Amino acid sequence: MINKNIRAIVLAAGNSSRFNTKRTKQLEPICGYPMLLYPLKVLNSLNILTTLVVGRQSEDIKKVINDSDMKLVDYAYQEERLGTGDAVKCSKQTWDKENILVLNGDVPLINEALIKNFYEKHKEQNSTITFLTSTVIDPGGYGRVVRENGKVRIVEEKDCSEEEKDIDLINSGIYLIKKEFLENNIDKLDCKNISGEFYITDLIKIAENLNEKIQTLSVPYDYVRGVNTLEELWVVEQIKRSELIKKWMAKGVRFILPQTVHIDQNVKLSPNVTIDAGVQLLAGTIVESGSSIGAYSILKNSKIKENSIIHPHSVLSDSEVGICSQVGPFAHLRNNVVTEEGVVIGNFVEVKKSKLGAKTKAKHLSYLGDATVGNSVNIGAGTITCNHDGVNKHKTRIEDGAYIGSNSTLIAPVTIGRGAYTAAGSPITRDVPENDLAIARVRQVNKTGYAKKMREKNAIKNGHVVSAPKHEKQEESKRFSFFAAVRSDDFSETNF
Ligand code: UD1
Ligand code: CA
Repeated sequence: MINKNIRAIVLAAGNSSRFNTKRTKQLEPICGYPMLLYPLKVLNSLNILTTLVVGRQSEDIKKVINDSDMKLVDYAYQEERLGTGDAVKCSKQTWDKENILVLNGDVPLINEALIKNFYEKHKEQNSTITFLTSTVIDPGGYGRVVRENGKVRIVEEKDCSEEEKDIDLINSGIYLIKKEFLENNIDKLDCKNISGEFYITDLIKIAENLNEKIQTLSVPYDYVRGVNTLEELWVVEQIKRSELIKKWMAKGVRFILPQTVHIDQNVKLSPNVTIDAGVQLLAGTIVESGSSIGAYSILKNSKIKENSIIHPHSVLSDSEVGICSQVGPFAHLRNNVVTEEGVVIGNFVEVKKSKLGAKTKAKHLSYLGDATVGNSVNIGAGTITCNHDGVNKHKTRIEDGAYIGSNSTLIAPVTIGRGAYTAAGSPITRDVPENDLAIARVRQVNKTGYAKKMREKNAIKNGHVVSAPKHEKQEESKRFSFFAAVRSDDFSETNF
């Protein structure tokens, strides 16, 4: 069993200086998963005890690992960034197996099969050191594997001669080393090189000088790509993303423009799902059969149940959309929104921490926050739940079958009873009982001919000739809708 004979040492203490970012590169996400967790996950699934060498931002790294499902991880601390050789040396107290597997924390695309095969070859040949190499068209930045007079050594790019720079065989930074050899020779490393660092790679030279058996194993480059720069991170993520998209395609997910789509690791899609251009499906998202996600929508930790449509440019986080529903375009659902079946949430509607019952509709320009909305409720355009009084948040309750007139402002805490109506433009400050109509607005007054008089007065003042408006006489408004069931003559004079 591979795990009986191996202790892994993962190096993650470096400065990430070539990233030019504040955060350590080890925590940069690749398809939603921190880079460092990739090799750790492979080692975990092979049950290999692992020592992680940390230094820069060690507490952040430990927190991410503690919050993950990673087991079998011990830590070693590297005080100063003195190079990969020094980093390995710092883990000495944990060398408890016959072989030590050293790997860089910035090589995220390795997999279980590769490590197993690597170990088999190392064991078969009874090698002192086996290390993985790869042939690369553009080997810039990697240590080159130099073979001369039947001997092999690794030369770092900075220390390469012009001829050595042309070598396209690179060191992948993954080594299996007999523990005994490591113990006897780690202190022999020096820092006589351009960088002034202790290189783990110099162990190869030391082993050659001692006539120890050294084996190299060439593997496809994509499995051992190193990540030293943001550009290399982009390439590696592109590979991972393509793998994920191909996996979902094979399972029956239709991607309209797959090269523009981003999918995180922890996403579940069903057959018969359609994903349009530019969609981002982030960790924790589930899309069930028959549903489609419109162009440029972003879904994070959200569930779209069967046969629903998310129209373009919608943003959903930590929310759930019921079956046969529609959301968007340009809708925003966040912070635990849950909708039941047949719901319609339309253009420019934001919903926060709210529940919407079956067949409820909020089709245009609304904000619903901290609301519990029943079934078959109609939320008119421009409706706002005023849930925040400047200090505290309050709840709005809208019961089944209620009809909220356009531009209602529901000042929470407030309850709109079953089947109740609110008149358009009403600020609702008190509960509305079941089946009642609440009107809360200044009533309309029509001033006969006033507009015409104003126009004439202004024209004379400005020295213009007065031209007759198209309608010689403005008719009194005949608009008399159910929600505006009030006549102008009900009003006392206002300050005109
Ligand atoms: C290293 C190898 C190079 C190889 C390449 C493969 C050395 C000297 N060179 O170069 O031959 O081709 O990987 O990707 O080993 N680290 C520490 N402490 C340190 C320095 C580094 O823990 O003091 C860690 C880093 O966090 C990183 C890993 O070791 O995860 C490798 O270090 P990095 O600086 O990236 O080495 P490369 O220049 O890529
Ligand atoms: Ca590297």
